[in-house]
Amino acid sequence: MKFQFVTKTKLLLLLLCTHLALNISAQTNNAIDTKVNTLLAKMTLEEKIGQMNQYNGFWEVTGPTPKEGNAKEKYDHLKKGMVGAVLNVKGVENVRKLQEIVVNETRLGIPLLFGFDVIHGHKTLFPIPLASSCSWDLEAIEKSSRIAAIEASAVGINWTFAPMVDITRDARWGRVMEGAGEDPYLGSKIGAAQIKGFQGTDFSSNSSIIACVKHFAGYGFAEAGRDYNTVDVGTSTLYNIILPPFKAAVEADVKTVMNSFNVLNGIPATGNKFLQRDILKGKWNFKGFVVSDWGSGYEMIDHGYAKNLKQAAELAANAGSDMDMESYSYVRHLKELVEAGKVDIAVIDDAVKRILRIKYELGLFDNPYKYCDAKREKELIYHADHIAASLDMAKKSIVLLKNENNLLPLVKTQKNIAVIGALANDKNSPLGSWRIGSDDNTAISVLEGLKNIGANITYAKGAELITAPTSFPEEVKVNETDKSEFTAAIKLAKKSDVVIMVLGEHGFQSGEGRSRTKLDLPGVQQQLLEAIYKVNKNIVLVLMNGRPLAITWANEHIPVIVEAWQLGSQTGNAIASTLFGDNNPSAKITMSFPRSVGQVPIYYNHYNTGRPGPKSEVFWSHYGDEINQPLYPFGYGLSYSKFEYSNLKIDDSNPQKVKIFVTIKNTSTIAGEEIAQLYIHQKIASIVRPVKELKGFSKVKINAGETKELEFDLTDKELGFYNNEGNFVVEAGAFDVMVGTSSEQGLVGVFNKK
Ligand code: GLC
Repeated sequence: MKFQFVTKTKLLLLLLCTHLALNISAQTNNAIDTKVNTLLAKMTLEEKIGQMNQYNGFWEVTGPTPKEGNAKEKYDHLKKGMVGAVLNVKGVENVRKLQEIVVNETRLGIPLLFGFDVIHGHKTLFPIPLASSCSWDLEAIEKSSRIAAIEASAVGINWTFAPMVDITRDARWGRVMEGAGEDPYLGSKIGAAQIKGFQGTDFSSNSSIIACVKHFAGYGFAEAGRDYNTVDVGTSTLYNIILPPFKAAVEADVKTVMNSFNVLNGIPATGNKFLQRDILKGKWNFKGFVVSDWGSGYEMIDHGYAKNLKQAAELAANAGSDMDMESYSYVRHLKELVEAGKVDIAVIDDAVKRILRIKYELGLFDNPYKYCDAKREKELIYHADHIAASLDMAKKSIVLLKNENNLLPLVKTQKNIAVIGALANDKNSPLGSWRIGSDDNTAISVLEGLKNIGANITYAKGAELITAPTSFPEEVKVNETDKSEFTAAIKLAKKSDVVIMVLGEHGFQSGEGRSRTKLDLPGVQQQLLEAIYKVNKNIVLVLMNGRPLAITWANEHIPVIVEAWQLGSQTGNAIASTLFGDNNPSAKITMSFPRSVGQVPIYYNHYNTGRPGPKSEVFWSHYGDEINQPLYPFGYGLSYSKFEYSNLKIDDSNPQKVKIFVTIKNTSTIAGEEIAQLYIHQKIASIVRPVKELKGFSKVKINAGETKELEFDLTDKELGFYNNEGNFVVEAGAFDVMVGTSSEQGLVGVFNKK
């Protein structure tokens, strides 16, 4: 009796607390709404439009500044209260300077938002997001974003333009480095974790910053992987692949959304009412505000959708783009558009209320300088705890692709190790792209990491990767001809027992505006690899790249391949600890690696087609010169441990929740972590379903010889899909289910959804 009494009391207490919490938040929201409406009533039309205007800081440019943009005009507008937010302002002092102008010199003193691309860290850099996504570790990902927010807020930033949740299947696109790969289920979980990390749990804290999920929507489907290119996708792809991570972001209470450069069904996203009003603010009831991407407003002229900047302003505002970044369209034309009745004042008021509400939620009206604490800037930047977290995330992001004869891990007493490759001695490329706030050459290089761990190494560059130093907005100039240092490297390899080759891409060969038509090792690196292989086959290939690469020759010849991506500040230490066994790799790729660029776009959750083959004659879906399968499939990654799956059990007796059980044994002598993945395939449906869809995963630590049983639950949420009307439907019928170590390897079963 006593036990029941205690439980009941606890339950009552829980219900009471929940009710109270909901009550408090409702009261807070009402209080904020009252303040917003009171302030709005005082504002002139110019001041309202000012809130909808965001200018780039006067120090840094991350996109093409409009032809007519200039700092003098920006300052004038700043003093007149015609600016609601700025971006790329660096340092607490500069932030304070601008905030003081706006708070003290404008009529209403409405504080600014300070935006910045805090993508994978601010000063302390974490692995590029594509790398971190391979950890499948939501807690670690959230922590990385939390630390990024702490450092960004310490330098005055209160708004990050992240997470980028654009699903993509095309490694030619440079921005694959910025997302979480090809799967919407995993991408949704990761995006929500990043938002929770950036925004924290309490906006009154000066380490919480607002997140901005981007780019809404479809940007990752740029045709031919060419950045900013046309996007033309089907309805089912839109609803089932592209939109889910954005919906998950809204459900995770993301405060802002950034629209995208591309068209969707022929209408630029910035001027797309269907996306911004019908879906985002309508169906999903999004309460935050939408910011345009850099200049995406005026780009509607180039798209052929607006005849001039004035019409661009009209189209964007009416379509639900609340704030204009660096088009100058709102600040120049909205007033006359409202006066001419082309844009209703209600559209302006709705946008301004959304923006003001977030400024109140951030506490900026109570203390506009809450993010301007110079002491915090000194204390928190590059804090030891942040460095440690960066190292941990880096270790969790390294994918072991091949380990023939268990050549890895190396023993620390290993002698005669050669290290070859320009990237081994590079302290910049490992930082990756999208790191405007950080400091150049601050990564621990691979060479430094190997020395830190006490490895007995000798280094030879082998070849330059680039022909000249490259600064941020420039094209990387790859060395395509100079092989003058091959001889020295070959000589070293000949007399070495093991050769660690660090090859891949320069940090700025991926990222925005950095698409490639090839997915090979850039420059003369493939030739270098083959030249070394000729004299020493004991090669450990460490890849450092921002996208999947087509490394078919390496996979056929090189015994060990480690995908180390661009791991941020602690790159060298993470790689060294993995090569020498202090870190047991557990990561799994979140984007398929193609055998050749000709297979792209290539992804695991494809449809079966009407001619899946294989057939004896040619009339089935295949190539004459390559197999269909990727080199490495989504979800693939090895460990120093060995995991055995057995005993798949399915309980579909409860139509509301199908239970799937599997047993995993670590048959090795090394404790390790396994990312078990669950995939479904609905055999027959009103819209064809992918041959596989990730609908569950569990990252589990299993000691040597230990066995664990995992349970996965499948509810309507996992089994349903969006029909072509955009409605979520669940259809009865037979499902294949697979639980395993990758999207291509696991135990299979079937169940019936009643
Ligand atoms: C860029 C990017 C966007 C970024 C913005 C501000 O062009 O497309 O992701 O947040 O401009 O830098």
